[in-house]
Amino acid sequence: MSFTVKLNRMLGCKRLGVAAVFSALLLSSCTVRGLSPAGPATQRISEIWWLMLSISGAIFVVVVAALIFALFRRRESDVEVSARHDGKALILWAGVVIPVITVIALMAFNVDALVDVTDPLNEAELVIEVTGQRWWWDVEYPDYDITTANEIYIPVGMPVSIQLSSDDVIHSFWVPELHGKRDLMPGITVPYWIQADRPGVYEGHCAEFCGLQHAKMLIRVIALEQAEFDTWLESEQEDAREPQTDLEQRGQDIFLQTACAGCHTISGTAGEGTAGPNLSHFGSRQTIGAGILPNTPENLAAWVVNAQQFKPGAQMPPQPMPDEDVEALVTYLLSLE
Ligand code: CUA
Repeated sequence: MSFTVKLNRMLGCKRLGVAAVFSALLLSSCTVRGLSPAGPATQRISEIWWLMLSISGAIFVVVVAALIFALFRRRESDVEVSARHDGKALILWAGVVIPVITVIALMAFNVDALVDVTDPLNEAELVIEVTGQRWWWDVEYPDYDITTANEIYIPVGMPVSIQLSSDDVIHSFWVPELHGKRDLMPGITVPYWIQADRPGVYEGHCAEFCGLQHAKMLIRVIALEQAEFDTWLESEQEDAREPQTDLEQRGQDIFLQTACAGCHTISGTAGEGTAGPNLSHFGSRQTIGAGILPNTPENLAAWVVNAQQFKPGAQMPPQPMPDEDVEALVTYLLSLE
C-alpha cells in the first residue's frame, strides 16, 4: 500500500478531528479564564498548564514525526533488514529513560506548586464560610456577623480563607481566575483560600454536577481595595434599611405577610427564614437567582412571581400576586442596599 493511501486513511477522520478540537475548545472556555491569572494560586496553576502543554505538544510532534518516518521506512526495511540493536537502543532511550526522567521532573514541579497553592491558607486573616445549597451559595463572615449570598466580597492583595461545606449534596467551588476547584462536602468543612491581586468581579461556577439546576449555580467574587472593602463590611453589618416611602412600607408588609418571610431573612424585621438567601442588603446585589439574571426591577418582578420559569426545580414556588403588590415588593427589596 502506498504511503499516500495510508496517509489518506489516517486523515479520513479529519472532519471528526476538527469537530473534536472545536468541542474541546468550547468546553475549555472556563479553563481559558483560568489562564488569565488574577491571583497567586492561578498564576502557579497556569504555569503548570503551560509547561504540561509545551511538553505534551513536543512529545506529540516527535511521536507523529516518528510515525511518518516509520511509514516511509517500512517498505525499504522489508527489502533490506537493517541493524536491530539500533531499534533496541531507541526503545530503551525513547521508551524508558526519557519518559521516566520527564515524569519525575513534572512530578517535582507539581509538588513544588502544590505547596505554593496550599500554604497561603495559613496566612489568611479574613475567614468566610461558604455553604453550597441547591442551587445557590450561602456566604457568611462569622467575625462580622454578616450573612449574604452568591456574591463574595474580599479585599485585594491578601489571601482570604474560605471554609467550604454543603447542606445537601456535593458541590464544587470554582472561580477560575482566582484558584482551582475545591469540593464542598456535606457534613465536612473543607479549608480553601482565594486571593485577588487586582480589583474586579470574578465569575465562577459550581463545578460538580449537583442536580437539575447545577448549570445555574453561579458565584461571583468582588475584589475591592481595602478602604472600599471596609466600607462594605460596615454597611453589611447594619440592619436592613427601613422603608422610607409608603410604597416601600407596603412592600415590606407584603414580604412579611406572604410566604417570603418563611424562607428569607431581612435583618431588623420579623422575616427570619433561612431556607433561601438572606435578603438584608439585596438591593446591592448584582444578580438574581445565583447569577442567572441581572438584578433589575423587571427581572426581579418576573422572578418573584414565578422563579420556576427561570430555574425549574428551585425551592422557590410561584407567588401569584396583583401587579401593584409586585411593584411594591420589588421597590422595597431593591431599596435594601
Ligand atoms: Cu452545585 Cu453543581
